[in-house]
Amino acid sequence: MKDQNKSKDVNRRKFLKTGSAFAAASMFLPLGTSKIYGAFKTGHLENSIPVATLNNGVKMPMLGFGTNTLRDELGVKSVATAISVGYRLIDTAHIYGNEEAVGEGIKKSGIKREALFITSKLWVDDAGYESTKEAFETSINKLGVDYLDLYLIHRPRGDVKGSWQAMEELYKEGKIKAIGISNFSPKQIDELMTYAKVKPAVNQIENHVFFQQDESHKFLKESNIQMEAWSPFAAGRNGIFTNKTIADIGKKYNKRNAHVCLRWLFQRDVVAIPRSSNKAHMIENLDIFDFELSEADMKAISKLDLNVTQFPEWE
Ligand SMILES: NC(=O)c1ccc[n+]([C@@H]2O[C@H](COP(=O)([O-])OP(=O)(O)OC[C@H]3O[C@@H](n4cnc5c(N)ncnc54)[C@H](OP(=O)(O)O)[C@@H]3O)[C@@H](O)[C@H]2O)c1
Repeated sequence: MKDQNKSKDVNRRKFLKTGSAFAAASMFLPLGTSKIYGAFKTGHLENSIPVATLNNGVKMPMLGFGTNTLRDELGVKSVATAISVGYRLIDTAHIYGNEEAVGEGIKKSGIKREALFITSKLWVDDAGYESTKEAFETSINKLGVDYLDLYLIHRPRGDVKGSWQAMEELYKEGKIKAIGISNFSPKQIDELMTYAKVKPAVNQIENHVFFQQDESHKFLKESNIQMEAWSPFAAGRNGIFTNKTIADIGKKYNKRNAHVCLRWLFQRDVVAIPRSSNKAHMIENLDIFDFELSEADMKAISKLDLNVTQFPEWE
């Protein structure tokens, strides 16, 4: 755990140092340049996204691309564009109804499969041993890949034990590089750990400045389970992009609210997967590695916590 944090600290320092140089230099770098700024050498555009080392040694980008609601042509175009501007982690799920579009977007990008980190999720209707195996096959077929980097139980409902056993087997067969969960509380993780042979590598939960989830954050850190934030912008709710506290902090660094929100997650060692269908926003959201929020900034942001979900309709 200490080592993991240390390696992230080193990463962070390294990227703070190279961040602004990269931002300036990347404008002049041709595609396919051999200069490597990050851990992912893609053969196309080298990117500068730091990686987390999961509890099984797998490397996961700290910043990725969310795809909920991006379906059909919009999904294809958004995913291909996101990859072209530097995203390598792509987050989808069976329930988003876009795995085919995401797969198409990946194909369209021309990127090598190994350069990507692809996540999908098992929906609650498919909970259980047999149905999990079938749902996994359906997902990889729709995506057009032969393995997933990360497969998550989307919600703690139904036969979680049967699903986890199926996922452990798929993991051991090498069809999934890391297995994890989503929307699990510390108590539900403790329950899972009573029978799990493989510890979850990731828990993806709602996390943004208005719902800071301090208890889960502490628990996951202590358990060496990587925390991943869904809806890092609260999907734009509660005036996040115009919030004055966030804007005032951003002004000091010449950054916008989106940058401050994502940087806050990064400094808490939380992976974030912002969604956008707007290329300018996609590029903007990558630009968080050349500044550091101070302790006072982090304290001011901690006061924005409403300690309640911004998506009560999903409870
Ligand atoms: N595991 C789960 O249960 C779960 C639940 C929800 C979500 N997720 C995952 O988390 C991902 C992200 O969450 P989300 O899709 O709910 O929303 P989000 O990433 O919090 O916010 C997306 C919204 O922010 C806007 N936006 C993005 N960048 C911006 C910028 N720089 N400036 C201004 N506006 C910006 C987007 O509009 P534009 O398109 O105009 O940029 C969009 O309306 C999902 O796509 C999905 O992959 C998982």
